[in-house]
Amino acid sequence: MEIRATDTALLDWTGDTLAVSFLEDAVELTGDLAQLDDKLGGLLRELIEETEFKGSAGSSAVSRVGAGSSIRKIILLGLGKADTLNLDSLRRAAAAIARLAKQQKSKTLAISLPVVNAEPGLTAQVITEGLVLALHLDNRFKSDPEDKGPKLEQVELLALGNQEAAITKAQQICDGVILARELVAAPASIVTPITLAQTAENIASEYGLTLEILEKEDCEKLGMGSYLGVAQASDLPPKFIHLTYTPQDTPRRKLAIVGKGLTFDSGGLNIKVSGMETMKIDMGGAAATLGTAKAIAQLKPDVEVHFISAATENMISGRAMHPGDILTASNGKTIEVNNTDAEGRLTLADALVFAEKLEVDGILDLATLTGACVVALGNDIGGMWSTDETLATQLQAASEAAGEKIWQMPLEERYFEGLKSPIADMKNTGPRAAGSITAALFLKQFIKETPWVHLDIAGPVWLDKENGCNNSGATGYPVRTLVNWILSD
Ligand code: BES
Ligand code: MG
Ligand code: ZN
Repeated sequence: MEIRATDTALLDWTGDTLAVSFLEDAVELTGDLAQLDDKLGGLLRELIEETEFKGSAGSSAVSRVGAGSSIRKIILLGLGKADTLNLDSLRRAAAAIARLAKQQKSKTLAISLPVVNAEPGLTAQVITEGLVLALHLDNRFKSDPEDKGPKLEQVELLALGNQEAAITKAQQICDGVILARELVAAPASIVTPITLAQTAENIASEYGLTLEILEKEDCEKLGMGSYLGVAQASDLPPKFIHLTYTPQDTPRRKLAIVGKGLTFDSGGLNIKVSGMETMKIDMGGAAATLGTAKAIAQLKPDVEVHFISAATENMISGRAMHPGDILTASNGKTIEVNNTDAEGRLTLADALVFAEKLEVDGILDLATLTGACVVALGNDIGGMWSTDETLATQLQAASEAAGEKIWQMPLEERYFEGLKSPIADMKNTGPRAAGSITAALFLKQFIKETPWVHLDIAGPVWLDKENGCNNSGATGYPVRTLVNWILSD
């Protein structure tokens, strides 16, 4: 699919489907739209009246245009109220238009959407994201995919001028989002720790990044007893992935992104009694880390970024870690494993210690860490904890621009009481209450002084129902946020 922005006016475009947009309670046919309505013999007015189209967010109307016209179909799309219009409304509108155009079997599409924030570049970027991400369907495991029919071949974003750079940027970001989606969606028999390491290898060789894979023995030498405790029941080797993007010139800052990479979480001997069948998604943090690496490798910012994941599976076997075992992490801290299903934090502990040794300016970890976070924030919002308000503010801004919601939660120190162990430095699991907060407090024990932010993404990595530019299934959350964050000042 080719996307380009042009100066073509509404009235001059010829092709399959033309999509025009309206703000809520401002469905008026003035200017170009009045002329278009005239040209189409009053069809727009009729369609608006017949469908009682009011322009509310997400509403739409579609009609065939009479033979002999320069277009075949017309789509009306509602943008919601003027005061709520932002970049994400455009991303969502573009996604809705893409789905309608596809239903209408359009090969060529023109889109007329307003410029938001007087930023035609950002406008073109988010529209492209909406189109590409809404049209991405994962048919790898279908013997007979449902979406046959003609493919959308050409999309023209009207009256935006030439926005080639912004459109390319959006496509590179989408490459990363789609990689993350495909890694999350594939079953645990296909995406293993080895696959994650190979994916990192592919990115490294394609774009010239540096890759270090620590094998089990290397991790042993570094004293990563916490990570290896989780890995010990699996028949598959653990792979500690460290992929580095280094800019040509001196980096203006150095960052580390650490993603939880549990390619399957059975719970271990504290075996899961429900929900195990969805636990292929437990490498969503690693998937977004690699997706971000793929985007950043193409965008080439002047920032050094370390992409890290301590990948493994959490399995059961005769050599599985026992509930009650005491593990020693690479910073020397000891952990009483009172629940083998709280395994993500055990793998992250050693990964965070490793990241801090790289002397970066900021560390971000992201993990499908707790069911408690899903209970608190649902599937549309990730939880954020941070030791550094500047970092938290940067992330908040990055997430808003990305249309991927995050909500800051408290690092309530007093709750660490719940993790005190009579025999070791800490337990890995606290009481049921505030489960996502105690998980964050556990991670904090493995960071000394580097500004740190933790994202619990257990909810938003997977959706049961389509929403905005996400179809049901893996979302690729929060690749767009991470890219924005790395690119920000
Ligand atoms: N991978 C799960 C968390 C999870 C839950 C991810 C739902 C995605 C959707 C994690 O390893 C886990 O099992 N957490 C436990 C922690 C508990 C044992 C303290 C949980 O949330 O129940
Ligand atoms: Mg678990
Ligand atoms: Zn897990």
